[in-house]
Amino acid sequence: MKNSNCDVNLRKVAVIGCGFVGSASAFALMQSGMFSEMVLIDVDKDRAEGEALDISHGVPLNRPMKIYSGEYKDASDAAIVIITAGAGQKPGETRLELVHKNVGIFKSIIPQINECNFKGILLIVSNPVDILTYTAIKLSGLPENRIIGSGTVLDTARLKYQLGQHLGVDSRSVHAFIIGEHGDSEIAAWSSANVSGIPINSFCEMRGYFNHEEAMIRIADSVKNMAYEIIEKKKATYYGIAMSVKRICEAILRDEKSILPVSSMMHGEYGIENVVLSMPSIVGKDGIETKVPITVNENECTHLMKSANALKEVISELEF
Ligand code: NAD
Ligand code: LAC
Repeated sequence: MKNSNCDVNLRKVAVIGCGFVGSASAFALMQSGMFSEMVLIDVDKDRAEGEALDISHGVPLNRPMKIYSGEYKDASDAAIVIITAGAGQKPGETRLELVHKNVGIFKSIIPQINECNFKGILLIVSNPVDILTYTAIKLSGLPENRIIGSGTVLDTARLKYQLGQHLGVDSRSVHAFIIGEHGDSEIAAWSSANVSGIPINSFCEMRGYFNHEEAMIRIADSVKNMAYEIIEKKKATYYGIAMSVKRICEAILRDEKSILPVSSMMHGEYGIENVVLSMPSIVGKDGIETKVPITVNENECTHLMKSANALKEVISELEF
């Protein structure tokens, strides 16, 4: 199936970087049945080929799909290209400490995508995801709406999960966002959090919890430090992000116009500009349709500004 401009095959996805995150994402996408063709690309060609073979063997048990390792030219007509290439954190290392290595990797990847005259959506997952999304915007020259960072979709899922556990309620009924950096300066937007329309503190009281301040600090800290905890125990995180990748692809492919906290360029929202960070945004077939600047209180706004400044400081050290 081709879309109207005939440049994009809506049934095709490409994954660049086939390590833990790329392969888990490819596996989740295979199971989703959303695509009928998937190309895996990695500098380590054996790795890409091995993952393509392994994941293909699930096809007869799921539904028909062509999965193969390939080159950048094979990604030229993909509806979505997902970049997960790059180093991950070692135990104790921050995401921002990966910046120089992974910006270097993006400087080799993005020009190869540019050469393909790519017309689809670029989904950035590699860390530090906000900085690398900014890098992809600067190096690719693609319209900003077509470059999406997975941002705090994963952190938001972690927050909803923990709140669901804490309150004994389906985490899908929890509406709350982590905004800002996907990293140490992220913010839990408590002032807009609710459970099916009931303000979070009122719902907590319904369930017998009254120590709001203490619980909010504990849960937000746990969410912020979750990647460190998992990396300490099993060296990398990949299943949660794989499901986040699948969810973002679904919103794009099905033109769902879902509100997801993806990262994108700020243009004056909350007085912040020329930095990429996460804000709830409407996601559909053209990528990011518009941001949804949720109401934040003064404290959240101050922290959002600090998060933007932390990212800007890193950007100021980069050369494009
Ligand atoms: P990994 O080391 O297992 O895999 C990285 C892969 O990238 C390797 O297969 C490597 O060969 C490949 N690669 C390196 N340079 C390349 C290049 N120039 N072109 C193509 N492929 C290249 O790492 P991982 O655990 O899969 O993590 C990948 C990235 O995803 C890391 O930056 C990690 O921090 C990030 N991550 C992000 C999130 C998120 O929420 N955004 C979550 C988890 C991990
Ligand atoms: C995460 C990665 C490491 O799991 O960014 O949050």
